[in-house]
Amino acid sequence: MLEIKNLTSGYDGPDVLHNIDLEIEPGSLIAVIGANGAGKSTLLRTISSLIKTRSGTISVDGKDLTNAGPAAVVSSGISQVPEGRQVFATMTVAENLDLGAFKTSKAIAAERLEKALEIFPALKERLSNLAGSLSGGQQQMLAIARGLMAEPKYLLMDEPSLGLAPIVVQTIFDILPTLTKAGMGILLIEQNGQIALSVADKAVLLERGHVTLRGTGQELLKNPEVIERYLGVGNSIGADPKKQAVMSVRIKSALGNETSDMFQKTNASAR
Ligand SMILES: Nc1ncnc2c1ncn2[C@@H]1O[C@H](COP(=O)(O)OP(=O)(O)OP(=O)(O)O)[C@@H](O)[C@H]1O
Ligand SMILES: [Mg+2]
Repeated sequence: MLEIKNLTSGYDGPDVLHNIDLEIEPGSLIAVIGANGAGKSTLLRTISSLIKTRSGTISVDGKDLTNAGPAAVVSSGISQVPEGRQVFATMTVAENLDLGAFKTSKAIAAERLEKALEIFPALKERLSNLAGSLSGGQQQMLAIARGLMAEPKYLLMDEPSLGLAPIVVQTIFDILPTLTKAGMGILLIEQNGQIALSVADKAVLLERGHVTLRGTGQELLKNPEVIERYLGVGNSIGADPKKQAVMSVRIKSALGNETSDMFQKTNASAR
């Protein structure tokens, strides 16, 4: 288990994250959702030891990793798929993947490559293409596949849906259950609450560096506050009763009656 206890961290100024508790179990997906600037990427950077933990602990399978440095984190079986993909545009797809297999023998790297290409067949035909020539969705696949080349026990993903068309996002999210079924623990960070919560076993809401809500993905998906503030509903429909009625039907078909009723109650009390 990747265990984060009472974690506080930040940059040069005041603390950004406050007393975060989070457990990522092997074979499960935990989503962290939250608005712009809530501290989601800071959480990943702290786990990856790219920035310092000020207090609290990070451990993996009982081994302390607090401020252990990025190399120690990676060799403990934790890979990060960074925000904005960060593939090397002027290198080929194959070369990018090879970087992910850093410090392994050629034979093992070849085995891992085969597995990664099985998961992302779109990359197979593009191995000799420059990464910069790929579409945004293919670059995201490459970034994930590169993370998989380290054969991590835990995969940390920062906003994989960012800037991608919904259909492409769906293709990428469809592979996540394959990874958890194989025993991997995934920490998925997303501003796109809808899609993240729909695949999450457990989830937390991060607000201004604090965990303010936790539950299963389904529980948060049905939480009125989450619906209104993080699933884009409250913002887009405002107080217009016609728009609310349309949205209510959409939510009903997407999530079931219970949610829709809660949604109506929330809006009634807001009026
Ligand atoms: N390199 C940095 N130096 C100083 N402060 C930073 C740095 N990166 C982020 N911050 C600050 O830390 C806070 C949290 O930022 P963070 O990038 O973790 O948010 P986020 O939840 O990932 O947001 P987004 O959804 O926009 O990616 C913000 O107030 C931000 O200004
Ligand atoms: Mg971020």
